[in-house]
Amino acid sequence: MKLTEALSMLSLRRSSPRLFSYDDFRRLARRRLPRMIYDFVEGGADGEVTLRDNEAAFDRLRFAPEFMVDVNKRDSGATVLGRRIEVPFICGPAGLARLVHRYGELEVAKACASAGTIFVVSTASSYSLEDIAAVGDCPLWFQLYLWGKGDVVASLLDRAEACGYEALVLTVDVPVVGKRERDHRNGMSLPPRVGPSQALDAALHPRWLWHLLSGPSITYGSLVGLLPDAAGFSSIAEYANRELVDQTKTWSEVAWLRKRWSGPLLVKGVMSAADARRSVEQGVDGVVVSNHGGRQLDSLPASLDVLGEVVAEVGSEAEVILDGGVRRGSDLVKARALGAAAAMGGRPWFFALACGGAGGVAQMLEILRADVDRTLALLGSTSFEAVTSDILRR
Ligand SMILES: Cc1cc2nc3c(=O)[nH]c(=O)nc-3n(C[C@H](O)[C@H](O)[C@H](O)COP(=O)(O)O)c2cc1C
Repeated sequence: MKLTEALSMLSLRRSSPRLFSYDDFRRLARRRLPRMIYDFVEGGADGEVTLRDNEAAFDRLRFAPEFMVDVNKRDSGATVLGRRIEVPFICGPAGLARLVHRYGELEVAKACASAGTIFVVSTASSYSLEDIAAVGDCPLWFQLYLWGKGDVVASLLDRAEACGYEALVLTVDVPVVGKRERDHRNGMSLPPRVGPSQALDAALHPRWLWHLLSGPSITYGSLVGLLPDAAGFSSIAEYANRELVDQTKTWSEVAWLRKRWSGPLLVKGVMSAADARRSVEQGVDGVVVSNHGGRQLDSLPASLDVLGEVVAEVGSEAEVILDGGVRRGSDLVKARALGAAAAMGGRPWFFALACGGAGGVAQMLEILRADVDRTLALLGSTSFEAVTSDILRR
């Protein structure tokens, strides 16, 4: 066995036998990361009402099982836009994974390949879309922000297509960056500034400091040379609002993308039946019901609470994916019961990456898969895809 293969297998080992749930990963990540980095991942916008409600919405639902059913053979996988996934959780787009691990998105791609699920690579990824594709064997989608002029977007699309990205996910809910108060308080900038106030915190987290200092400088890997650098801005939000976002974009851009991108196209950030309808009118193949994990407009409803109306509006014409608040496999089953083909999220894999690199993410995905499998058995169901609203108590 080659050394690189041995190292790769080693990094896919379970990161800890004592991690059983999202909250275990989150708590360990909080211990391992400086406050500024943990808050960047965990935090939401304004009063974090939506962030909390995304999770609470799942807790409000109750199951209605049927017992004495033959559940000996079960299938917890799903098919999304023609692609079979072994666990119905997609690692959704979340930028700057190198903030928590030396190899950032490369590790996530490795874990998704081993777990048999999709990784949606963000425009704001720290490694470039080419580097991530080179990991191999991982089904990849590319998440697009309409940043910069048309030629920047066109070149990203060409590069994503050339590297074999299977689908394009356009995120539409960032006309400006939400007010993430934790980041403002902590002075979160790019690359992270380890000034006098953060130095002690960094020194208390030597493992994280090693990850930071042993790798390349943290930046938006796919955008190097295409857009102005973040260095010199006082915060990520100031940089993004001044140099990246474009507040003039409208639905005509989606029509343009539909002509430009030949593979499946999804819109992420749909929070109403009306926007779902507009998306489908532009010819998209799927919509992601998402409030950006409560990081953009606060006091939006939980994404799970909007799922039903979106499915009723466009469910027969487009694939509907739920994003936000998924913490357990039983949450995935609830999302399926309300009509989602599968679900995605960012914090679960981000915290797992901080805990154990590829091994941590693979462990988190296996916990979700096993949760789904057990939940199906306890409900008297044999297939994730066959789950309907009958499994929910009315
Ligand atoms: C650290 C972090 C970075 C994110 N970056 C992006 C991004 O670059 N593009 C995007 O569409 N969404 C981004 N998101 C939002 C996620 O795709 C997703 O909507 C959100 O994490 C869902 O909430 P959950 O992770 O709590 O389930 C990010 C989320 C986090 C936590």
